[in-house]
Amino acid sequence: LKFFCCSNDGVDQHMIWLIGLKNIFARQLPNMPKEYIVRLVMDRTHKSMMVIRHNHVVGGITYRPYASQRFGEIAFCAITADEQVKGYGTRLMNHLKQHARDIDGLTHFLTYADNNAVGYFVKQGFTKEITLDKNRWQGYIKDYDGGILMECKINLKLPYTDLAT
Ligand code: ACO
Repeated sequence: LKFFCCSNDGVDQHMIWLIGLKNIFARQLPNMPKEYIVRLVMDRTHKSMMVIRHNHVVGGITYRPYASQRFGEIAFCAITADEQVKGYGTRLMNHLKQHARDIDGLTHFLTYADNNAVGYFVKQGFTKEITLDKNRWQGYIKDYDGGILMECKINLKLPYTDLAT
């Protein structure tokens, strides 16, 4: 099992994994237009942290790091149907937090969570209370009325991936 983060950088293997992830999102997020999913997953300003097992994508999180604002917006998050509730979603988020902090230099994540995924995000440390200063994120993230805006503050020191087994 490995956790791997990349964007659409022209590497064949990365493209194959991103297409696999796009297909998982399309199936697991039926309310999202497929064209929109493809556009963001393949957009070079977005990155995807993926869970890969036997060289196949099992799930992932696509996000856009706003380096100047030091926050990231999570666009999509899903684990393939037959692998849910096995802990992959938690480990994935831990790897994302570590990468976002250590590689992207981010301090927070914001996301519009689907109603039925709020419980998952709460378990990952997200809150409905937004503490991040509005002038750091307003105008950057797109308004989306199908979900609830949630925030996660990334701990400066926590070894996220050592905690994930
Ligand atoms: N509601 C409430 N709690 C949940 C949910 C949920 N939908 N999904 C998982 N949990 C809980 C689990 O019970 C577990 O709790 P525990 O630690 O007390 O045992 C904890 O969250 C973590 O569970 P994992 O097994 O790590 O989660 P999983 O691998 O299933 O991944 C995910 C969670 C990504 C939500 C997955 O179930 C999924 O793909 N769901 C369908 C797609 C979806 O809803 N994605 C999020 C949409 S919002 C967005 O993309 C911005």
